[in-house]
Amino acid sequence: MTPSRTLVITGAAGRLGTYLRSSLDDVASKARLVDVVAPPAALPGEPVEIHLGSVTDPDLLDVVCRGANAIVHLGGFAGDAPWPDLSEVNVEGTRQVLEAARRHGVSRVVVASSNHAVGFHVRGPRPLPDDVAPLPDSLYGVSKAAVEAMCRFYSVKFSMDIVCLRIGSCFDTPENHRMLSTWLSPADFVRLASASLASEHGGFRFVWGVSANTRRWWSTVGGDAIGFHPEDDAERFAELYPGSPPEPEYVGGVTI
Ligand SMILES: NC(=O)c1ccc[n+]([C@@H]2O[C@H](COP(=O)([O-])OP(=O)(O)OC[C@H]3O[C@@H](n4cnc5c(N)ncnc54)[C@H](O)[C@@H]3O)[C@@H](O)[C@H]2O)c1
Repeated sequence: MTPSRTLVITGAAGRLGTYLRSSLDDVASKARLVDVVAPPAALPGEPVEIHLGSVTDPDLLDVVCRGANAIVHLGGFAGDAPWPDLSEVNVEGTRQVLEAARRHGVSRVVVASSNHAVGFHVRGPRPLPDDVAPLPDSLYGVSKAAVEAMCRFYSVKFSMDIVCLRIGSCFDTPENHRMLSTWLSPADFVRLASASLASEHGGFRFVWGVSANTRRWWSTVGGDAIGFHPEDDAERFAELYPGSPPEPEYVGGVTI
């Protein structure tokens, strides 16, 4: 990681933003934290600036992107919501973030997509590739598929380096049986963000955001390619979810 890196983190008050902030030394030398909800104030000596506002505000994005080296874009709705909100915040907000990155020559953008962008793929015996075609299982998933398409467009059209993370389930610990397969530990999320920021591979790529779970359904190829080597395995929580309930038919865990 380049020590002089100035990182913009959107959605910084949220779960993943908080994980990243708490390990900031691993990913950046300073950060500009953006959220509509105020993140906790900077601790003494903590190299962060707080910027209260929306990813849909180009003026705010101009302020935070000026001189920045990279963006980790996490801000938005992290689950189903009315479509006008998903459309405005997840889709248009991502377009505004990418547009600001383009205006200011930010060299790397890492964007949180979701397994729900591809959630209606049937879970099979073989690991699902990182770049499997979009097949959303919800309007939230549709918004993330649109986010992915927007990222791909910006990468090709403007030669931008963008990594789209298809995140499984990032929580302190697995919260149900399915998450024994889909869990991304907080520490592995930080490893993933760090690898995505540091990778010398340019252009666009998808990477599954999942830990080294014994029961994982998703490919390791995209992670290997950028040097993401997850270290945690949800199996150590397996005794919390005993038995063998039928595995979900679709990788997003949603039923029809
Ligand atoms: N946690 C997971 O398991 C998981 C799984 C798949 C994808 N993701 C994606 O990762 C990202 C972060 O997820 P999370 O779990 O931290 O969610 P979260 O809800 O805890 O955090 C999202 C943050 O975005 C902020 N936000 C909402 N609208 C905003 C706006 N207009 N401008 C700026 N900030 C705004 C919220 O205030 C919140 O702090 C989301 O994009 C989510 O879709 C998370």
